[in-house]
Order: sequence, then structure tokens, then C-alpha cells
Amino acid sequence: MAVVFGLSALGITAATIFVVLLIFLICQPIREYILKWIEMKPIPGLEGAYPIVGNALNFKSNAADFFCQVIEGTDKFRHLPLLKIWVGPMPFIALYHAETVELVLNNPRHMDKSYSYRFLHPWLGTGLLTSTGEKWRRRRKMLTPTFHFSILAEFLEVMNEQAEILIKKLEKHAGQGPFDCFRFITLCALDIICETAMGKKIDAQHNSDSEYVQSVYKMSDIITRRQRAPWFWPDFIYNLLGEGKEHTKRLKILHSFTESVIRERTEHTDNTESDGESDRGTKKRRAFLDMLLRATDEDGNYLSQSDIKEEVDTFMFEGHDTTAASMNWALHLLGSHQEIQRKVLQELTEVFGASQRTVNTDDLRKLRYLECVIKESLRLFPSVPLFARNICEECQINGFKVPKGVNAIIIPYALHRDPRYFPDPEEFRPERFLPEHSAGRHPYAFIPFSAGLRNCIGQRFAMMEEKVILAWVLRNFHVESFQKREDLRPLGDLILRPEQGIWIRLQKRVH
Ligand code: HEM
Repeated sequence: MAVVFGLSALGITAATIFVVLLIFLICQPIREYILKWIEMKPIPGLEGAYPIVGNALNFKSNAADFFCQVIEGTDKFRHLPLLKIWVGPMPFIALYHAETVELVLNNPRHMDKSYSYRFLHPWLGTGLLTSTGEKWRRRRKMLTPTFHFSILAEFLEVMNEQAEILIKKLEKHAGQGPFDCFRFITLCALDIICETAMGKKIDAQHNSDSEYVQSVYKMSDIITRRQRAPWFWPDFIYNLLGEGKEHTKRLKILHSFTESVIRERTEHTDNTESDGESDRGTKKRRAFLDMLLRATDEDGNYLSQSDIKEEVDTFMFEGHDTTAASMNWALHLLGSHQEIQRKVLQELTEVFGASQRTVNTDDLRKLRYLECVIKESLRLFPSVPLFARNICEECQINGFKVPKGVNAIIIPYALHRDPRYFPDPEEFRPERFLPEHSAGRHPYAFIPFSAGLRNCIGQRFAMMEEKVILAWVLRNFHVESFQKREDLRPLGDLILRPEQGIWIRLQKRVH
């Protein structure tokens, strides 16, 4: 009897432990969620946050309306150092003050990307943009030399060539009515990144219907829609009820294209590595891909084919929509501020005279006012309007305790409109970026390329491309805008784009 009793007591104890453990395992995420909800209570937040769905029910589904909502929120709460938003069960804190942004971006402990970047993984893998920890550190070290100034200077040839094609395309519209220039500029930027990243000419400017070109755009849209809809975050629901099928189809097109280019280039590189000459004896143009094929880490290891694919896909994604959007916004702003366009033209005339020659590195250095115009455009319309980090360790932000695991969203669009650093923030004034006016400004008040260790690796490439293309366009045409600020309705997807494009009228300049 005693034995029976002993056994059953043991059995009961084991069963109890098992049940408690099970409840604990199942309940752990719920427990953490409730704990975070309580811990974060003191942080000021958006109204209308409900358990589990958070603020998501209040989010507008249209991308432009949603972005408007974000910006209205940051305007209304500009006086607050941080703002809490629940996206489904995920807590976010929005940051748009230079001082609080610095606390996060300048802290090597918060370098990991937030949960929402997970939706980029199927396309970009864990390349430089999306990787974390040691993998990111090694990759960044390996890739940094590929963006050296001397290598970028080699890309000038491609940029000039594509700019000349763009001018020919735009010429057809000169002297005609207003037209949307967004696609023209974007295709030019796409041609530039394809040739510089992969060494592959896709001639998107003449062939915009290509499956690859279409898929690059479609994929960005699909990803942002999913990021805003927490109910589509689980893969099985997304595949069953969401856009899972379209996502898979586009992914296949994108990946098979990069895979085939890498294969082709690998064979070609082996043949010509010794002298940098192609089989026809002409000088071979270097591409980022060639450098990736030869790069080694600290232990002398080469990147695998799939490592290379994720980096090439990342360059393709980060490296053209961003510059294209920024050039388009700049054209809109110049077309609505004729006195500023005149100043740019004066600088261009001083540097180039009436010549239609290509832009060289010396010219780039001299185009200082144009650089201020690009920066001021990026201030008002930062191509990446928001980005996010994971708070990897509990921290204090302006006296508020922020628990580990919270996502911090940095909103350059709102940050760049802080009247303490940019008086009359909505005014387009490139002079703000002249050295005498920017000295002493908080280093985190203007961060279109992010800041700190995880800043944009391509920023010099971007500034170079924008200067080359804008110099070509403005030397050739007088630009006039046809939209008011309030008509633009920026879509704050992954990239900041105007809802209806950029409508301008061009007049050919007489030299
Ligand atoms: C106007 C143009 C551009 C803007 C405004 C821009 C902006 C940014 C921003 C804000 C980030 C940080 C994103 C985050 O933390 O999630 C970033 C990262 C990055 N950008 Fe850019 N970018 C531009 C052009 C480019 C170009 C041309 C390339 C490549 C050729 C590039 C490659 C990258 C990469 C690889 C990263 C990840 C860096 C890392 O985490 O180590 N970007 N960019």
C-alpha cells in the first residue's frame, strides 16, 4: 500500500510539474507581454491601444494615409521625447529628437534590426542590411573597402553613360506639357546599380517591362503591406489568405536573375582575373560583385555563393530606389523654387561652361551648392523615412525605462523637422547646409543615411550618383514643378515616394 501510495504520489508530482511547465511554456510569451505592457505604462503612447491588436486597428490601410497618420502623431507629440505604439503584440517606441536618437544609434548594444526586418529575409537573406551580431560585424569589415573612393570613381563612367541616355529620353518631353518624371529617373538609377553592383547591363531605361524590373517594385510593395498587417505575420496565414503566392512568384524571379548573373560573372572573373581584360581585349569594368568574389574575412575565408547573393540582392534593393526617390524630390523642390534653381545653374556654368562633357571627380568636389540642395531635399524628404532597431538591453530614455526587446523606430522625416535645429522646418533652404550655417548643429539632427556604426555604407555612392544625374538634367533643362506640397502625399513605405509621382515641365536650355 505504502509503495502504491508512494508511486502515485510520485506520479502526481511528476504530472503536476509537467502541467506547470507546460502552462509556463505556453504562458511565457503571454507573461512577457503582460509584463511589458505594465512596465511600459508610464511611456506616453498613442490612444486606442487594445490588448493583442495594440494600435493596429486604428492604422489607415492606404499607405499615404498611414504615413500622414504617423506624421500627424509625431507633430502632435513633438514635445515628448518618445512615443509608444503597439503594433499587434509588439511594442515600439518612436524617436524623433536628436538627443534620444543618439542614445540608440550610438550604442553598440542596440545594433540589431527590429522584428519588422524579418519580412525582408526571404528576399535579402541576412545580408548587410538585415544581419545581426558577429555576422554583421564580419561582413561590414569585408565590404567597407569595396566602397572606397577610388573604386567609386570607376563607377562615374557608368553614371555618366546612363545619365546621357536619360537626357535623350527626357528630351522627348522638353517643350511639351507636364509629365511624371519619377519612372524615368528610377529606371536610370536601376540601370546604374545593376551595372555597378553586378556588372550586368539590363537596359531598364529602354526595357521597363522586364520581369525583373517589375518584380523589384512589386516586392517592396508586398513587404510593406505585410509589415503593417500583424494578422499576416504568421507564414501559414499569409500563404493561405494573404499575398503569399505573389510573394513566392516574385521571389523566384528576383533570385533566379541574381543567381544567373553571379554564375555568369564567376565564370568570367576566373577567365580574366589576371589582367582585368575581357576576352576581346577591352578593359573590363569592375563591379561590386567582382570585389565580393575576391573578398576574404579575417580568417582568409571567401564568401559562399549564397553569401554573395544576399549582398548583391541587398545592394539592388537599397541602392537604387533610395537615390531615385531623392533625385525626384530634389527636382520637385528645384522646380518650385526658381531662385534656387538659378543658383545651381550658376554653379554648373562656373564648373562646366557651355560644355556637355561628362562629370569627373574634380567637378563633383566643386559642386558644393548642388550638394547643399541634395542634403536639403533629403532633410525634407528622406528616402528612408523610418527605420528600426531592437533594444537589446533595458535602458533609460529621458527618464523612461525601456525594457529589453522593445523596437525603436527612428523617424528621420519628423526628426529633420525639429525647429530647434531647422527653423521654419518646412521651408526649402539649401543654405542651411553651408559650413557656416551647419557648424555646431547636433550631429544626430540630420541623419538621412542613419548614423553610428550601422550607418549607410552606400552614402558616398549615393551622393555621387545624385550629383552626376542632377548636373546632367539641370545643365540640359529648365525645370518647372506642377504640384503643391499638399498634393504630394508621400507614401511612407520602405522608401518615401510621392503618391502620384513627380509632375514637371521641361524646357531645353540653349547653350
Ligand atoms: C539617397 C540614398 C540612400 C539613402 C537615403 C540611404 C539610407 C540608408 C539608411 C537610413 C540606412 C540604415 C537602414 C537601417 O538601419 O535599417 C541604410 C543602410 C544601408 N544602405 Fe543605404 N541609403 C542610400 C543609398 C544606398 C546605396 C546607393 C547603397 C549601395 C550601393 C546602400 C546600401 C546600404 C546598405 C548595404 C545598408 C546596410 C548597412 C549596414 O547595416 O551595415 N544605400 N541606408
